[in-house]
Amino acid sequence: MAFRKDFLWGAAASSYQIEGAEAEDGREASVWDTFSRMKGKTYEGATGETACDHYHRYKEDVALMRALGLQAYRFSIAWPRVLSYGKHPGGSVNSKGLDFYSRLVDELLANDIEPFATLFHWDMPQALEDRGGWRSAESPAWFADYTAAVVRTLSDRVRFWMPHNEPQCFIGMGLADGAHAPGHKLPWKEVLQAGHHALLAHGKSVQSIRAHAKKPAQIGYAPVGCVAYPANPDSPHDIEAARWGTFAVREKNQWNSSWWMDPVFFGRYPEDGLKLYGADAPNFSAAEMQTIAQPLDWFGVNIYQGRPVRLTPQGAPEIVPFPPGYPHTTMRWPVTPEALRWGPRFYWERYKLPVYVTENGMANCDWLSADGNVHDPQRIEFLARYIGALKQAAADGVDVRGYFQWSILDNYEWAEGYRERFGLVFVDYATQQRIPKDSYHWYKQVIANNGAKV
Ligand code: FCB
Repeated sequence: MAFRKDFLWGAAASSYQIEGAEAEDGREASVWDTFSRMKGKTYEGATGETACDHYHRYKEDVALMRALGLQAYRFSIAWPRVLSYGKHPGGSVNSKGLDFYSRLVDELLANDIEPFATLFHWDMPQALEDRGGWRSAESPAWFADYTAAVVRTLSDRVRFWMPHNEPQCFIGMGLADGAHAPGHKLPWKEVLQAGHHALLAHGKSVQSIRAHAKKPAQIGYAPVGCVAYPANPDSPHDIEAARWGTFAVREKNQWNSSWWMDPVFFGRYPEDGLKLYGADAPNFSAAEMQTIAQPLDWFGVNIYQGRPVRLTPQGAPEIVPFPPGYPHTTMRWPVTPEALRWGPRFYWERYKLPVYVTENGMANCDWLSADGNVHDPQRIEFLARYIGALKQAAADGVDVRGYFQWSILDNYEWAEGYRERFGLVFVDYATQQRIPKDSYHWYKQVIANNGAKV
């Protein structure tokens, strides 16, 4: 069984991680500009001030995508480039900032690359954070306004949209753990209330896209896929246990699937989550839940890793610990290709929408070799096994439509600064030279033969 003929092979990146040009053409500060400048928050105190200088080098970067044979590119739009809150508290459109995305989209289309636009990949305007950010009940309306400004300008050319990237991270890591911008450590009740506003913002953003789109919009989502997979794939008991492991809300933290997905697709929070969170659950109305659950066209999900789960002889599902010395990437994330077989399958069964893997990839210890190339055999092995597992999902009957490798370029990996390299293309940050890695050449073949050989 092969990938469908119209399967989309893509790669992804996000605004703050690659653009740089932080004060150019009227861009205002985002929470990441502020957070990364606080002492001790990011590795080596790194910021996105220059990053990959993609703002100035986007043509060169699109040329690299074209040479790779890329069919789709997932990028994000920087809210603080598009709306200026300095000039007007309600946000006035900064056409110079918006124009960058217009040029980028034109360049992509001229090179036969389908643009997939994410509206929020974590760079909330600092001016709005100062008014409470996602904690404010006004945030859904802010996000809907921003969405409208973008969609009015780009939707004659952009068809594929995602309001949010990974609410688990910008809410959980940003407001509960304090590890990401804006760096708060709020009580769980406030975190979940902010999470509710973010979900409501998603719903209002979808409404805004539908209202303003000049071409029929294809709208999806890109949460973290917290996947469990069967320890023994041939055991129906373990498969059932893994299904439980993928959807149960087990702990008082952000790392689960259902809390962030069920409201969007079913218009309700999962029962076990409401029970576990108890008095910390957010306040919400039936009308809000309906707004959150706007019909979507596809299910997007970012999957990097999973956990093996089995059914114990006593009949209880149990997460199987990784053995000492298990394979992991430089992020210390376990290498678990199974996640790309079982995750898409479980999400497809539950949410019944075509699946796009909106992010997958690994950080590796890459360097420029004496021969002038960047050899990353581990990334090739990793991607081959993960994409092979996704192909197995397609063979199992899952409607898988596309795959986005993270990331086209090495880039600013948030709190890890420039230490972690996820790219198919190596970036020498001192010179901004781009050097395609071995995995780039390998992925080119995968795209050319539609994954036939993985
Ligand atoms: C995801 C983020 C993305 C990148 C990858 C490695 O959680 O969406 O921006 O940092 O991880």
